[in-house]
Amino acid sequence: MAQLDFVAVVAAVVLLMGAHGTGAQHSNGGGGGERRTGEEPVITTDDAGNLMLESGWNGRVFVGGVDVMAKLQAIEDQLAATRACAAEGKLWLGERCVSAVPGLDPWNPASTCEELRLRGFLSGEYYVGGSSPAPRVMCNMTTVPATNYGGNGLSAATAGVSCLSIKQHHPPLDNGTYWVTINGSTPFQVTCVNDGSIELEVQGSEFSSTGWIFSFDDPSNFFKCNCTAALSRLQNLTGNWYTGTIPPTTLTRECEAYFDIDYRSAGQTLTPQQVTAIASLSKDRDNRNFDVYTTSCDDDNNVAPLGHWIGVETADGSGNFTIQDCSSGDGGLTRPDPTVANGINIGCCDHAVTDTFASFPFPLHACASINTGGGVALSFSARTLRIKENP
Ligand SMILES: *[C@@H]1O[C@H](CO)[C@@H](O)[C@H](O)[C@H]1NC(C)=O
Ligand SMILES: *[C@@H]1O[C@H](CO)[C@@H](O)[C@H](O)[C@H]1NC(C)=O
Ligand SMILES: *[C@@H]1O[C@H](CO)[C@@H](O)[C@H](O)[C@H]1NC(C)=O
Ligand SMILES: *[C@@H]1O[C@H](CO)[C@@H](O)[C@H](O)[C@H]1NC(C)=O
Ligand SMILES: *[C@@H]1O[C@H](CO)[C@@H](O)[C@H](O)[C@H]1NC(C)=O
Ligand SMILES: *[C@@H]1O[C@H](CO)[C@@H](O)[C@H](O)[C@H]1NC(C)=O
Repeated sequence: MAQLDFVAVVAAVVLLMGAHGTGAQHSNGGGGGERRTGEEPVITTDDAGNLMLESGWNGRVFVGGVDVMAKLQAIEDQLAATRACAAEGKLWLGERCVSAVPGLDPWNPASTCEELRLRGFLSGEYYVGGSSPAPRVMCNMTTVPATNYGGNGLSAATAGVSCLSIKQHHPPLDNGTYWVTINGSTPFQVTCVNDGSIELEVQGSEFSSTGWIFSFDDPSNFFKCNCTAALSRLQNLTGNWYTGTIPPTTLTRECEAYFDIDYRSAGQTLTPQQVTAIASLSKDRDNRNFDVYTTSCDDDNNVAPLGHWIGVETADGSGNFTIQDCSSGDGGLTRPDPTVANGINIGCCDHAVTDTFASFPFPLHACASINTGGGVALSFSARTLRIKENP
């Protein structure tokens, strides 16, 4: 009760201070020409010696610019609201009755599940977060610190931690669009699959729906090596696919053509931050349905070594592209795993990209380099990509 009285007193003081700011307008109006004759204000004292004020004709009494009667009415209203909330065991917070206990009301959330655990709460759903209204999340109090399993994903305000978390802690999870906030990201929408996976669709290039192709020239292009593993992944070849994108210069042993790899989920292109957040769910091959490969087709028989490769940027905006290649640019003769080791100056090298960039297994920015004839490609083993964390 002490806390409720305090709230009411603070509310009254705040109201009085607010009234001071506008008081000048009221007192100015008091001197206007509206006064009716025969209704002069009266100042008297009662029998006990108390000062008695009576307004001239409109019932209002100003003291120091404050409309005392209106102010008393406001305080009475506040007290009535406060008492009405208190009858339900709640606090009046200016606009609404709110649970006095943090975590039980979206307008009075606990800051973390751990705060609730320390207050002795059991596992269950609570309102947790740094803003009001806060999302309703599932807290597991049997871990130390308590674990926040997130919300049901049906709105931004109840974003889930991941599709799998929604499936496990707010079932059922149907195929469809859900809101997630992964590792503290701003809530965003993804497509969930009812096994708990997040589903993304890689947005391919102008040459293939599942890959990027770069060639030296035509006919000395990526396809001359017949890199069958890569060709089986490069779906829906379109455009001048037999040529691909020719880098403006060659023989530099540097990045020559840059490309961005976009991913869509829930009908929207994901930002690099969102892709990186999704990637943080798992780096484990068992938790996804795809691999990403770089493939080089090299025909120079070691004349220009280190020349054919694709690099992936280590983190969005880092400008640091690390080479993803099994053994760059030496004609297929000395490759560790040539798919065509034929001694005729043509060779393929097929390399599954490794966990050397922040958004692995989703490369975001990459570059291609070709020194002489042949080409390079980056390809996905699937166009519809699924990933989930360990259960
Ligand atoms: C809470 O965490 C414990 C320990 O990890 C686990 O055994 C238990 O199943 C979890 N409870 C719920 C409701 O998920
Ligand atoms: C959910 O989506 C998965 C993956 O696309 C599909 O295999 C499954 O049949 C779908 N289930 C339903 C009930 O639509
Ligand atoms: C290839 O294109 C067809 C027709 O546009 C489409 O239905 C199919 O999904 C595409 N396949 C891939 C792997 O992109
Ligand atoms: C490409 O390689 C496959 C498998 O090795 C073979 O069957 C096919 O004939 C080759 N195609 C060409 C054009 O060399
Ligand atoms: C989660 O976010 C924190 C802070 O942004 C970051 O340091 C950490 O690396 C992230 N964890 C993963 C697995 O990405
Ligand atoms: C580029 O990234 C790689 C892999 O993370 C790292 O080993 C290397 O030091 C980085 N190079 C520069 C110049 O930052």
